[in-house]
Amino acid sequence: MPVKKPSPGELEPIELASRDEITALQIKRLKGTLKHAYENVPHYKKAFDKKGVHPDDLKTMDDIVKFPFTTKSDLRDNYPFGMLAVPQSKVARVHATSGTTGKPIVVGYTLHDIDVWSDLAARSIRAAGGRPGDICHVAYGYGLFTGGLGAHYGAERAGCMVIPMSGGQTEKQIQMIRDLRPDIIMVTPSYSLVIAEGFEDLGIAPEDISLKVGIFGAEPWGEGMRSEIERKLGLDALDIYGLSEVIGPGVASECIESKDGPVVWEDHFYPEIIDPETGESLPDGEQGELVFTSLTKEAQPVIRYRTRDLARLLPPTARSFRRMSRITGRSDDMLIVRGVNVFPTQIEEQILRDAQLGSNYQILLSREGHLDSVEIKCELQHEFSDTLSADKVSEVAATLQRRVKNNVGISTHVTVLKYGTLPRIQTGKARRVFDERPKQS
Ligand code: DLL
Repeated sequence: MPVKKPSPGELEPIELASRDEITALQIKRLKGTLKHAYENVPHYKKAFDKKGVHPDDLKTMDDIVKFPFTTKSDLRDNYPFGMLAVPQSKVARVHATSGTTGKPIVVGYTLHDIDVWSDLAARSIRAAGGRPGDICHVAYGYGLFTGGLGAHYGAERAGCMVIPMSGGQTEKQIQMIRDLRPDIIMVTPSYSLVIAEGFEDLGIAPEDISLKVGIFGAEPWGEGMRSEIERKLGLDALDIYGLSEVIGPGVASECIESKDGPVVWEDHFYPEIIDPETGESLPDGEQGELVFTSLTKEAQPVIRYRTRDLARLLPPTARSFRRMSRITGRSDDMLIVRGVNVFPTQIEEQILRDAQLGSNYQILLSREGHLDSVEIKCELQHEFSDTLSADKVSEVAATLQRRVKNNVGISTHVTVLKYGTLPRIQTGKARRVFDERPKQS
């Protein structure tokens, strides 16, 4: 498919602005945000005062490090509306995080916030090659999760016709895609592969699927998964990043002409990387925890919000803004196995090096005596599932075991299953890790 590289006229001027122009805009907006937060949110006033810092202390962008971090627990402690910087009557909508334990985090939006978010989701769709007149199939869940509505408003703003499918009902998803012939799909990478399998089961070849572009996010996925999705759906797969606390999908998004990591929409969100242990700022290029400060949010501004996502900030390429690397994982997803730090995506990478294996997998952790034991369950690709001999299957398992040992550094037991054995997600984010180890007290 020819790559739709945007002509300069199709981009907003700020996307191609000089670094000085971007910095000038960021300082102006950050000053306003710090003042807005300090004057209207008791939590921020208290936190700034405790650190002995005032919004007027910000003279350059580097001064941001003087301000306190905001954490997930700060947001939880102020559940549900304590972090609002506007009267509740100005809040047009709420979303909430999908946390599995404890209280969710509720995030409020004014109409203006929704307007800005729609613009940024539309900008993300354009970056992926979407254009007015395209048909966009949204299979992110609609509801408290920001994925569905965020993508929906963005696609409408980009001039697309939207199919508001939401998650689940795989057969219906496939029918809609076959009949309405959308150009774009917005969905989690793991669920896109469930849809791809549905097409495969019907004997429909990737080149006969109408989709040209997929905008995937909400969960970690790597280059192996990108190739797998592109091959199975016959499209270009782009990465979109975001989190509810900051706004939702469209904090950063990848450009089709470079496919080199999501571009951070720095005119609205200021990124930093810090050492997750010490909180110290790290230079661009170094791996650490992503921290965001919103620059234009009205209802619920966030100051130096610690995302727990681990990534690097990279220099600009297709746009004037900096990019971020793929998220290797969240600091809370990191598994410690016999003292070795492991992210599920590292294991995924090794699985997907083998063309005979599919991308559905589970990591099961248990404890045998005092030692951690790890089992990787994965599946053969459809085309190998019935044809591979038992010996060959054992070879596939042994190869994966060796690759994980050599590249990730842990011993595992690998079980290679037939295609279609592991459960498929129907909606939301994939669950890969099942940790049955007793909790350490
Ligand atoms: O997942 C927002 C979103 C919806 C992003 C649709 C992209 C597409 P939350 O449910 O609050 O919001 O979860 C946010 O998901 O902190 C990351 O850990 C993870 N995440 C989001 N996008 C990506 C991505 C949405 N592209 C959390 N790559 C974030 C890796 C991602 N992880």
